[in-house]
Amino acid sequence: APDIPLANVKAHLSQFQAIATANGGNRAHGRPGYLASANYVKGLLDGAGFTTTLQSFTYNGATGYNVIADWPGGDPNDVLMVGAHLDSVTAGPGINDNGSGSAAILETALEVARQGLTPVKHLRFAWWGAEELGLRGSQHYVNNLPAAERAKIKGYLNFDMVGSPNPGYFVYDGDNSDGTGSGPGPAGSAQLERTLQDYFTSIGVPTRGTDFDGRSDYGPFIAVGIPAGGTFTGAEGVKSSAQASLWGGTAGQAFDRCYHRSCDTTANIDDTALDRNADAIAYAVWTIANTTPPA
Ligand code: PHE
Ligand code: ZN
Ligand code: ZN
Ligand code: ZN
Ligand code: CA
Repeated sequence: APDIPLANVKAHLSQFQAIATANGGNRAHGRPGYLASANYVKGLLDGAGFTTTLQSFTYNGATGYNVIADWPGGDPNDVLMVGAHLDSVTAGPGINDNGSGSAAILETALEVARQGLTPVKHLRFAWWGAEELGLRGSQHYVNNLPAAERAKIKGYLNFDMVGSPNPGYFVYDGDNSDGTGSGPGPAGSAQLERTLQDYFTSIGVPTRGTDFDGRSDYGPFIAVGIPAGGTFTGAEGVKSSAQASLWGGTAGQAFDRCYHRSCDTTANIDDTALDRNADAIAYAVWTIANTTPPA
């Protein structure tokens, strides 16, 4: 799998920051910074050869948008989706939450195009609107999928906050192997979890599970039985001393002290965490997209 260039991921974050700065300081649902962000992402994907759709929906009296990008080819009955929410809260520019996931999957998609990847599975990337108002964009997408289209989606990988400044390395606990929190995800989620864990093991970084607690866009997918997975570097939760021993950083401090605040800017990113997660995404996409489903 390729090494995703960190500089390219960070360049997308700078663009999201500039878009927010030019549009009242945020990229929130119904605000001009959101549509500008969607157009930025869509423009790059169109230029790279993706087939893109701007799917609109209405929430709270405002129009929201999902950007959906299909990479031509692969088995149309075996679709791997990769998604991240593109909206911020109104309080700030949303660079870690979730410029980070948005930029990391964008650069992964662009790498797919640069390499002319011809995977077994059909690849579809998605940037969701209005996650911050209750997963509205991803819920709209899943609700409006015809049953036959829904059945073709064999997995969904979600990336929401992957560059936290005091990072943890969490992988969604698809099999509930830790036996705590919410139950396991749909069958198949464990394989997505293992693939992401394998990447971190290969670079010598320990991971821990994080539950499907319904706080991000995998929610509508697991609700209809689609296996899901993904990574997360932490939000308002406080890093314990055990976690600081495991990963470094500061015990007793939030993973992201700027979570949902105006200070969630380009300064609010740990480059090492962002780099490792972008590479993990690429590893998972390359690996899973070339895995044939059990007959
Ligand atoms: N979805 C939350 C937000 O955007 C962040 C989050 C992601 C929290 C994953 C927990 C797990 O604010
Ligand atoms: Zn958020
Ligand atoms: Zn988020
Ligand atoms: Zn697990
Ligand atoms: Ca668990």
